[in-house]
Amino acid sequence: MNVIHLPILWLCIHGGFAVQLEVLNQWNLLSFDLPFQYNYEDIRLENTVFTGLEVTTNRLFLATPRLRAGVPATLSTIPRNTPPGSSPVLTAYPNWSMHGALRGNLNCSGLISVYRIRADSCNRLWVLDSGVTSSLDDFTRVCNPKLVIFDLRTDRIVRSIIFPREVLRPSSLLTNLIIDESVQGRCDSAFVYMSDTAAPGLVVYDGVKDQAWRIMHPSFFPDPDFSNYNVDDESFTLMDGIVGLAHSPNLATLYFQPLATDRLFSVPTTALTKGPPVEFEETPVTLVGKKSSQGLGLTISIDEDTLYFSPLAETAVASWNPLTNTQK
Ligand SMILES: *[C@@H]1O[C@H](CO)[C@@H](O)[C@H](O)[C@H]1NC(C)=O
Ligand SMILES: *[C@@H]1O[C@H](CO)[C@@H](O)[C@H](O)[C@H]1NC(C)=O
Repeated sequence: MNVIHLPILWLCIHGGFAVQLEVLNQWNLLSFDLPFQYNYEDIRLENTVFTGLEVTTNRLFLATPRLRAGVPATLSTIPRNTPPGSSPVLTAYPNWSMHGALRGNLNCSGLISVYRIRADSCNRLWVLDSGVTSSLDDFTRVCNPKLVIFDLRTDRIVRSIIFPREVLRPSSLLTNLIIDESVQGRCDSAFVYMSDTAAPGLVVYDGVKDQAWRIMHPSFFPDPDFSNYNVDDESFTLMDGIVGLAHSPNLATLYFQPLATDRLFSVPTTALTKGPPVEFEETPVTLVGKKSSQGLGLTISIDEDTLYFSPLAETAVASWNPLTNTQK
């Protein structure tokens, strides 16, 4: 039997490392620059929370998925460098006509429900639209999922990629994306790795071949023993699969975590980019370590390959370098 030496990331928060964090912006409820013809009775700001954030030279982009009814716009922007602690009004991106879903205009050329966005090195924003509304309530698929790429200089759509049925499952919910510009080129030549959280899987898109395929592995699934969350005396249940993704170009590795687990995994990107898997092929997933609690967000500092994640139960941010086993 192989003995696996598994680093355990038990964070000791009470004796932990206290950092002074600076509040850039804060809101009790988000506010939007709604056009006058909108009916304020349709809007439910208590259902409008952001899950995705991207920072560009002059703007912050916020993705607010339609988890429940009443989300005004699913993607919006605020200026960067607003006064510390201020509550800027969100502007729908690129404009309100792309967000007709609130008013029942389920036009698939608009944006339906976006969880995360990423900028590439050509000053473009890749928007992953899940196409599903009220995913926490009745989970209604209104459009196929798609990637929409905006030129950030003009805020116009430069490309739209609609995924074929073969890479999806009836309950697919594409939530997160990584743009890998280190394999066969930048921007339009990139590979994109996307998490399917509700029908656990990874969807890989090859920008050169304009082709997508699906990767399956048991580690993408939620663990029922970790489907219950306790945060600050509140508790809830959520059986979400793979959602946190982080990419190291240096190590050619994709790190990932389902929400309902205490584990963190990795897979070499060569196993993802080589094309659609053949029947019975095993995806070489490695268990990287265990965390003190579940988590959604995952990112990496690409200079040192340090992972950053947020153990939900501790409402903390933790860092861990798998190469040196440094933890903070
Ligand atoms: C669908 O959305 C596009 C882009 O947002 C818009 O230009 C078009 O007029 C809309 N069509 C309808 C029928 O609402
Ligand atoms: C909204 O943005 C889309 C995408 O760039 C564009 O096609 C459409 O013309 C814009 N609509 C308005 C009213 O500006």
